[in-house]
Amino acid sequence: MKFFIDTADVNEIREAAALGLVDGVTTNPSLVARTGRKFADVIAEICSVIDGPISAEVVSTDFDGMVAEAKKLEDPREHRGEDPPHRRGAQGGELVRRSRHRHQRHPLLLALQALLAAKAGADYISPFVGRLDDIAHDGMEVVSQIVEIYENYNFDTEVLVASIRHPGHILEAARMGADVCTVPYSVLMQLIRHPLTDAGLAKFLADWKKVPQ
Ligand code: G3P
Repeated sequence: MKFFIDTADVNEIREAAALGLVDGVTTNPSLVARTGRKFADVIAEICSVIDGPISAEVVSTDFDGMVAEAKKLEDPREHRGEDPPHRRGAQGGELVRRSRHRHQRHPLLLALQALLAAKAGADYISPFVGRLDDIAHDGMEVVSQIVEIYENYNFDTEVLVASIRHPGHILEAARMGADVCTVPYSVLMQLIRHPLTDAGLAKFLADWKKVPQ
């Protein structure tokens, strides 16, 4: 399973990349807004740091506008994606079909939307599991349905699990066979650190001092 980092904070991206934990990056307008920086500057810097897929959302609602924005975002490495928001699904599907490059990522909330996106040829679909959990739905159940549908019909579209809130989401995604998890920096760090691991190490080091040398 690949790990993307879900942030527009370049310092976080650099730190996680140094740990070997970043196969790609996902951003969205909310994440970029938090940086207080210009959108184009943020995306350009991320592209200079990470040699992998980078997702940046277009904000147009019509096909021509989406394509025009996507062209401005084009990265010479072609390791960048446009991210038509789910609410513009019909136009986004058209973008997937007609775009000459295929690095689209579709945030979605229903397995049937994932079926449509795959039929349109999307490279990634992004079920937002945390946001589903927030409204008392089961986000990971949607992931399970999508993985099953894609296996049934041998779609190449990758399942990119997004809106991850805790390590349990990642564990379930891995068990279900999702292709990618895009993970906030804080949750990535939770994967590395466990209080029992820290406590166990501290005890061993303390006891080692009691061992005659
Ligand atoms: O990649 C999608 C993600 O940024 C949304 O996460 O926590 O705002 O639902 P969240």
